[in-house]
Amino acid sequence: MDCKTLISGTAGFIGSNYCRLVCEGKRDFVIFDLISRFDFWDDFKGENKKTTSIKVDVCDRSAVFNLFEYYHFNYVIHFAAETDVDRSYKDPDLFYKTNVIGTQVLLDACLKYGVKRFHQVSTDEVYGDLPLDRPDLFFTEESPLNPSNPYSASKAAADLLVMAYHKSYGLPVTISRSSNNYGPYQFPEKLIPLMIKKALNNEPLPIYGNGLNIRDWIYVEDHCRAIQTILEKGKDGEIYNVGGHNERTNLQIVKAILKVLNKPESLITYVKDRPAHDRRYALNTSKIENELGWKPEQNFEEGLVKTVKWYQEHKEWLDDFKAA
Ligand SMILES: NC(=O)c1ccc[n+]([C@@H]2O[C@H](COP(=O)([O-])OP(=O)(O)OC[C@H]3O[C@@H](n4cnc5c(N)ncnc54)[C@H](O)[C@@H]3O)[C@@H](O)[C@H]2O)c1
Repeated sequence: MDCKTLISGTAGFIGSNYCRLVCEGKRDFVIFDLISRFDFWDDFKGENKKTTSIKVDVCDRSAVFNLFEYYHFNYVIHFAAETDVDRSYKDPDLFYKTNVIGTQVLLDACLKYGVKRFHQVSTDEVYGDLPLDRPDLFFTEESPLNPSNPYSASKAAADLLVMAYHKSYGLPVTISRSSNNYGPYQFPEKLIPLMIKKALNNEPLPIYGNGLNIRDWIYVEDHCRAIQTILEKGKDGEIYNVGGHNERTNLQIVKAILKVLNKPESLITYVKDRPAHDRRYALNTSKIENELGWKPEQNFEEGLVKTVKWYQEHKEWLDDFKAA
């Protein structure tokens, strides 16, 4: 078969956006996820839809190896993961299994069948956090891994495994470490869609602690373009930070959402903080910008308005899942 790229985790937020941006109408992609999502798979069915979509568990070694045996992939892009930090406190075992063992299964298949590149979609959370009173500090690709919770620890472990397969076996790999993504099709357990959902329902908007934790936000399509750029121009064995240069406190994000929806700030409520809640994430992204020529394009304020509008027009998306 002439299918050249395998993509995992494509029913999820970033994987599905990547598919919509890159795979539409093309024959060369096999995409898979553990779940089938009501609207997503339909986008890739029918006469003009040539991508092959399959329901597979990334930890299922024989199912994954069968895919490689049948399709002969050149590229593998690995989005699939357990991603909710709060859930990771309750079920670290699942996070270890999916994020570490699942990655190892794909790496083993890549080794056995041979690929031109395995790309690991990772996160800035592997670096741990920065103090709030040092806005001059940013994580570079050389910063030590210092994860704070079971989710980020499992992603850091997976990154180390990816690099070890490169060093030990010469597997061609790249890793991208992105900051917080926002945009359409995000599960409503995450900050922005959860707050939009609560605000639309005139329910209290719960903010952890004092709301002053800082995240750097990147529009999901900018992240997807960065991954595409790394696949096309990145060097084997290299890690690339991907950030949006939009540092905001969680409180600023929630207030901005309320403003777009014309809802009162009195809806904000403060709840008990997360354990080991990372204070600030911030990335130095000069490597990908200088070496590969990628830059984020989406202005944050406009991107947020666009995002809120999308959820208003797709309320079924917010209703379909139980938010934490
Ligand atoms: N969302 C962010 O802000 C962000 C930032 C940086 C990096 N990342 C990374 O990007 C990737 C995608 O994140 P996302 O936000 O789209 O998460 P998501 O939770 O929306 O999507 C993850 C997808 O992986 C699938 N999955 C989980 N277990 C699986 C398994 N055993 N087999 C097959 N598929 C499985 C899920 O069903 C889901 O569709 C993750 O690796 C995450 O660590 C996310």
